[in-house]
Amino acid sequence: MAGKTALMTSLAEKLSEIVGAAFAAQGLPVELGAVRVSDRPDLCQFQCNGAMAAAKLARKNPREVAQGVVDVLQKCHSDRPEGAEESLVSRENKDPSTDARDDNEKVFQNIEIAGPGFINIDVTDAFIAGQLAAMQADAHAGLAQSGAGQTVVLDYGGPNIAKPMHVGHLRSSIIGDSLRRTMKVAGYNTIGDVHMGDWGTPMGMILSELEIMGHDGPVSMEQLAEIYPKASSDCKADEARMELARAATKRLQDGDETYTRKWRQFIDISIEGMRGNFDALGVYFDEWKGESDAHPFIAAMIDDLKAKGWAVESDGAWVVPVERNDDKKEVPPLILLKKDGAVLYGTTDLATILDRVKTHNPDKIVYVVDQRQSLHFDQVFRAAEKGGLVVDGRPELSFAGFGTMNGADGKPFKTRAGGVMRLEDLIAMGVEKARARLEEANLAADMDEAERGTIAHKVALAAIKFADLQNQRQSDYVFDLDRMTSFEGKTGPYLLYQAVRIQSLLRKAGDGGRWTVDGSFKIQNEDRALALLLGEMADHFELALKNYTPHVLCDYAYRLAQEFSSFYGNCHILSEEDVAVRASRLALCALTHRQLCLVLSVLGIEVPERM
Ligand code: ARG
Repeated sequence: MAGKTALMTSLAEKLSEIVGAAFAAQGLPVELGAVRVSDRPDLCQFQCNGAMAAAKLARKNPREVAQGVVDVLQKCHSDRPEGAEESLVSRENKDPSTDARDDNEKVFQNIEIAGPGFINIDVTDAFIAGQLAAMQADAHAGLAQSGAGQTVVLDYGGPNIAKPMHVGHLRSSIIGDSLRRTMKVAGYNTIGDVHMGDWGTPMGMILSELEIMGHDGPVSMEQLAEIYPKASSDCKADEARMELARAATKRLQDGDETYTRKWRQFIDISIEGMRGNFDALGVYFDEWKGESDAHPFIAAMIDDLKAKGWAVESDGAWVVPVERNDDKKEVPPLILLKKDGAVLYGTTDLATILDRVKTHNPDKIVYVVDQRQSLHFDQVFRAAEKGGLVVDGRPELSFAGFGTMNGADGKPFKTRAGGVMRLEDLIAMGVEKARARLEEANLAADMDEAERGTIAHKVALAAIKFADLQNQRQSDYVFDLDRMTSFEGKTGPYLLYQAVRIQSLLRKAGDGGRWTVDGSFKIQNEDRALALLLGEMADHFELALKNYTPHVLCDYAYRLAQEFSSFYGNCHILSEEDVAVRASRLALCALTHRQLCLVLSVLGIEVPERM
């Protein structure tokens, strides 16, 4: 069996290494040996399409190139000596010169050249079994630690003080938290920051409103929920009232003591409310910072940008021009200071980079924010590069934008009354629906009220999160509570149900869940598809990490659950008579369960003990 460390990759990646070496042996680029899972599983398990490109380079016939590669592979790795047809030649009959290696090192069951020069590959069951055993033994479940030694700050959530959280904040929280969990599993040192909106004009609106009301003492969350909307609509209606809000904002930002004290008080109670919401959603943050935390960095940053000539004056304001010659659309300058000296969203975002660099020295910062803010981040990233906040591409700044969660009417999701849906109401709606679904499916019937409540909550979160994450991040989607809570189809509850089913099967089998088969998985026809799918896992993680796309993992989790379901229906597990096959199948179930739960956990979905 190959060493532990060499196996922290997918089957396709391992094959790419082997086939890549065979390309290299022909003097061809290694990358052309890339192998991927076949999109024609009826023909073969894996395929390599590099011979066509290699033929162009080598000015040869592609089939000839493919044949050269296949010859090398057959010599070194095949379970079938050159020239042998269909049947496997038993070990005794093999040419001793090619038979010097251990059985586990035989990789190829069948290699064929098809069409213009495709290399179609089937691997040996021993090779698949080796992968399963390695995954089973690996503390990281067979996932490469590609983020080891790197720090990433993830900016998600982004609720605004005094305003109710809306569905955009919900999406940001769910996606951001999932990316954080995924990166953590890949070995990154992750820092999730909620980055609250706590420093803009709304703060001045509230402070000036308190003054108008003659309110001096602390305010409650309920009071705040009334004060802000009133102040905001008054400001919109009346320019003089708006002027008061602006002046108050400036006074706060300049460090006025009374204002700071009042502001701190309503920030604190807002955070308390937010924490409750995020806890209920199962979304975690390492840091509860906000725009205001960038404040101490702003003055020096602006001086520096001015001194270096990157910041210029424009109509009394200070801006950083960020347009480029090859821009296809207009990219306006980033405004640092307004005429009255107040700072803006872009200023705090720029200074927040400085704060993060100073505090964490991150390799990357990932912003999970509504796609409609992409221009803003374009401006901020460009200004950061220009102003030297980013040095030699570090920290790498990435914008992971997302689309809108819509209602059935195709417009951003609202309550029936047309208002913003509060997060707590949305969760409550989900829980109620989940309860009804559990009852319908006759699940959780034998549980007491408390346990049923806990499970309904888990089912609701699984439904809401999976329905969100399974979409391409950038697409809009329709919030459909009925569909997402169903136990059938591509839903969170279906996945929970499958995970729980495997768990209860393992429980029934007894042995306390110890079916480690020490590398001797016995792959039968009925097991192969599930085993191969497990061997894909690292590929999907890598893709999700590279593009910040949790939907890739959702697809994989769903396929895994479905494949398990067919496996379960197609063969004997508990009732299998061959003791070794039974043990191997149970180990396969246990591995499937572990991998499925791992994928669900990075999606922020918790699997109940039973349901
Ligand atoms: N508070 C902002 C909003 O509600 C989102 C913050 C996103 N993060 C950032 N660094 N700008 O739109």
